Amino acid sequence: MATYKHWKLDSDAQGLLWVSFDKAGTGTNTLSGEVLEEFDKVLDEAAAIAPKGMIIRSGKTSGFIAGADIEEFLEIKSGADALRMVRRGWDPFNKLAHLSFPTVALIDGFCMGGGLELALACRYRVAVDDPRTRMALPEVMLGIWPLMGGVMRLPRVVAPTEALDMMLSGRSVDARRARRMGLVDVAVPLRVAENAARMTALEPPPRRKLPFAARLMTLGLLRPLIAAMARKQVAKRARREHYPAPYAILDAWSKYDGDPFRIPEGDPASIGALLATPTAANLIRIFFLQERLKGMGKETRFDARHVHVIGAGVMGGDIAAVCAMRGMTVTLQDQNAERLAPAMGRAQDLFKRRLRDKNRIRDASDRLIADTTGDGARQADVVIEAIFENLEAKRKLFAKLEKVVKPGAILASNTSSLKLADISANFANPARLVGIHFFNPVPQLQLVEVVSGKGTDPQIAKQAAAFVRAIDKLPLPVKDSPGFLVNRVLGPYLQQALRMVDEGVAPQTMDAAMERFGMPMGPIELADVVGLDICMAVGKELTGEAAPPKRLDELVKAQQLGKKTGSGFYLWKEGKAQKGAAGPVDEALIERLIRPYLKEAQQAVAEGIVADADLADAGLIFGTGFAPFRGGPLHYLKAGA
Ligand code: NAI
Repeated sequence: MATYKHWKLDSDAQGLLWVSFDKAGTGTNTLSGEVLEEFDKVLDEAAAIAPKGMIIRSGKTSGFIAGADIEEFLEIKSGADALRMVRRGWDPFNKLAHLSFPTVALIDGFCMGGGLELALACRYRVAVDDPRTRMALPEVMLGIWPLMGGVMRLPRVVAPTEALDMMLSGRSVDARRARRMGLVDVAVPLRVAENAARMTALEPPPRRKLPFAARLMTLGLLRPLIAAMARKQVAKRARREHYPAPYAILDAWSKYDGDPFRIPEGDPASIGALLATPTAANLIRIFFLQERLKGMGKETRFDARHVHVIGAGVMGGDIAAVCAMRGMTVTLQDQNAERLAPAMGRAQDLFKRRLRDKNRIRDASDRLIADTTGDGARQADVVIEAIFENLEAKRKLFAKLEKVVKPGAILASNTSSLKLADISANFANPARLVGIHFFNPVPQLQLVEVVSGKGTDPQIAKQAAAFVRAIDKLPLPVKDSPGFLVNRVLGPYLQQALRMVDEGVAPQTMDAAMERFGMPMGPIELADVVGLDICMAVGKELTGEAAPPKRLDELVKAQQLGKKTGSGFYLWKEGKAQKGAAGPVDEALIERLIRPYLKEAQQAVAEGIVADADLADAGLIFGTGFAPFRGGPLHYLKAGA
């Protein structure tokens, strides 16, 4: 057998051919042009050998295949370039699909995008039943669609409605879900996975057929109907001029059976048309920004096994739960058991929602320990303070902590508005204190600001970033300055909208304007969600304006604090703001609302709150949801806003 750079072929005594993908010079398997070119040759060789069956697996422990090599996307200059690139995967995957012997993809760990398209071109799929195994077609998040056969094959393997849902949302499924959907034929624990793949190849079961109703949906006649229904759902979430890709997916499936080469040039579903809008480039930009944040703290080894959180309120309780869910032992401290109880209850709900599996829920619950004495601090690798926003209380607490914690432990505060230097003023070693600033709601928001005070040891800030990565959040290094990055930029933006309420502009009209701009939620609804008391305090602190907006002041005085009290600017029912019809929205209104945001973002970069403009864009996209298709506020300004 020939030798390859990225692939390894082995025949076994039973006549099976094992093909291992182990991309040279990297820890993660991605499908580059070179890899795919070789794969095509591997398939020719396999066809010549004509084994009893062929099993494709990863030669790496990190996962199966992470998808296309997105670095190569940067070389694409035109639709024709893109199609040439697609051809490199499209042809071999078709070849794979037409091999005369049984083919099995053995999926252990992530199996994304092009990786799943390769697996879909195999006759069978065997997945390792482990939380690490995730399958998705996330191309929509990059503003494109699964061009290497995904749109064609997925809706033939699973019910079209489920296939469309996966492709339109980019959401991943685990092995069990994949088994239930029919995406994989077998889901088994790691120790028997190889054998399961072998048995599947040697004694291939009859190929699964879609149920009758699902098969009907794949018929040409019904497809436009299904697509039209899905389009209505998409339209509720994304406008075509902002996000053309989901619409293109529906057209590609219903009109062209997912074949990118059948789509006429200039058709909005074509890859050329998608690449001609700024959306794809901006979303690809965000992918790289996210990679950059993920890389923070990578060069530092810091193994956090035990986290001690003090203050089981809104923030501390959820921080503790997230750490326990990610495998750490967590002691959660508060003044008494009554104060701890709600946080422990919320943690249970989170585990149930996110982990689903009985054993994993039990394990996470076991790792979260209520602590009314504070003894946990002695063993912890990371101590996070999340008590009331009160300088004296924090100082007192840290004075005690500094004496009892392990020498190498990270001492962190979740403060939103106090200066680290003030908190650490009486420390024996002020260089130990770092800010780890989470956002509310902690389980949902990916961004965490890692705050370095004047005296903070840079090595400790790096360790803090490594810890943030270990709980699968995105660390953004920021300087210790009021509001850090995210709240500082949100402050004037909210303040502007709140003052415009006093001028008589309807809240729902302003919210509609900013949603039109591409924000996930308008400013007034956001204020209600954050809590009007917090908005008032932050506004005063950040803008230094003496008098708060009038209507805001009235509502706070009446204890109508927004979502948490059931009413604020809006009435809240079942977690939803009850809004009346919005008035007309024009560019001038949008401009007036967004200008303070953009100005403050520029100012923060000028002051060096973050290292560069790209990091500010990353922080503001992941921290405030700034319209992703615009590529970030500073990028948007540069592009000529
Ligand atoms: P909270 O009022 O919900 O919870 C504070 C908890 O700390 C209470 O359960 C209280 O009993 C406990 N506590 C107070 N002193 C303590 C002590 N000496 N020892 C043990 N427990 C003590 O407060 P929240 O909203 O969770 O805020 C906590 C910190 O997080 C503050 O510094 C705040 O600035 C920051 N923060 C808050 C955000 C928010 O949206 N609420 C967002 C990001 C940061």
